[in-house]
Amino acid sequence: MYILKLKGNKNLSGTVRISGAKNSAVALIPAAILCDEEVTITNIPKISDIDNLEKILKYLGAKVKRTANEITIDSRNIENKQIPDNASKLLRASYYFMGAMLGRNKKIEMCFPGGCTIGARPIDLHLKGFESLGAKVVQKDNKYSIKAKELIGNKIFLDVASVGATVNLMLAAVKAKGITIIENAAKEPEIVDLASFLNDMGAKIIGAGTKTIKIKGVDYLHSCIHEVIPDRIEAGTYLMIGAAACKNLVVKNVIPEHLDTVIKKLVEMGSDLEIDGDEITISNKAKLKSVNVVTAVYPGFPTDMQQIMATLMTQADGTSRVEETLYENRFLNLYQLSKMGASVKLDGNKAEIYGVRELTGCDVSATDLRAGASLILAALVANGTTTINGADYILRGYEDIKEKLENLGAKVELIEI
Ligand code: EPU
Repeated sequence: MYILKLKGNKNLSGTVRISGAKNSAVALIPAAILCDEEVTITNIPKISDIDNLEKILKYLGAKVKRTANEITIDSRNIENKQIPDNASKLLRASYYFMGAMLGRNKKIEMCFPGGCTIGARPIDLHLKGFESLGAKVVQKDNKYSIKAKELIGNKIFLDVASVGATVNLMLAAVKAKGITIIENAAKEPEIVDLASFLNDMGAKIIGAGTKTIKIKGVDYLHSCIHEVIPDRIEAGTYLMIGAAACKNLVVKNVIPEHLDTVIKKLVEMGSDLEIDGDEITISNKAKLKSVNVVTAVYPGFPTDMQQIMATLMTQADGTSRVEETLYENRFLNLYQLSKMGASVKLDGNKAEIYGVRELTGCDVSATDLRAGASLILAALVANGTTTINGADYILRGYEDIKEKLENLGAKVELIEI
């Protein structure tokens, strides 16, 4: 268990390099088991979610070579084993082994995945999709046994443009017989990255990044080297740190188009922000103005940025509003922010945040990954020292968080307890 101690400092400055995208990497690694040769993925972030996927790969019998930011996976000898419950429960993305193992071996047994407790997060669309491709799903308690004699392409309509369901169905369909069409597919950049990885191996996928993805099944996937895209949520997190706590911050290795709505909101708040190719420079010079944010699937304002934005709103003049449309439990950070002096009103899936409020460091708890990021920003703008309990959540998704903040001049301690 970890705690993170941060001393308030609104005069940070420097450069931060954005790591590979967590939500891409956690899909690419299970996808690698579909490859009939050895495959290498670069720009892998050093985070605990990746460590946990590596353990599952090794448990299944894959040969894995990992250096700091690179992983080479040879899955030719993996076995048809049930994934242990304690491994599945460690992270959400363990469920990408459902689609990948089904696509590879036509069989998978595992329990309901873990992940941040930000809502019920059902997997009904994944399971219905597998059934459309010809699989039989048997559920007993929270255990799933999914088997198929043969997977046959079909037309699948997703009631919700779910990232997870889109990934899982792409994985199951890539080696299925015939053509699969996923309608109302998720359009997130991580889906496009997955499609380009699979296509690099010889898959035939078109339409990723639009609402219709068409997959023509192939028999064989060959070796490739693929680089993970930069993490847009990590980039957005540092931009918000820049907007509230940095004299000058250069955020490097960003794809600005992936952050379009986040950048627009920061500009609306009056942030000084300059984009130059894959670099964004931001500073806390301007007085921030209140804004309203409604979360939506890509390209809308990301739910993963909402909690961090809520902290930024405490530093903006006037009343800001957040409406969370994806998850029913993504406001737990507001209780922690209130302990630090924030003034907020919560009403179901809507919150009002009143600024400008001086925050004061105290003992708080990260209840999920992005809540943790929201508390890091709060700690940096607060007077005094903040102790964030449950920092393990933060380590699931932010590479080298301590070192990156220290490079900007922050006083940070990461303590294992
Ligand atoms: N949904 C269903 N049924 C399903 C699947 C989803 O009703 O079968 C609903 C969910 O309950 C939710 C909505 O659809 O209301 C969207 O969920 P989605 O499936 O898109 O989310 P996810 O795949 O579980 C990924 C990211 C999340 C991110 C969401 C939305 C990964 C591993 N996780 O989750 O990331 O919030 O997409 O963009 O890619 C994070 O990084 O902190 C994080 C939680």
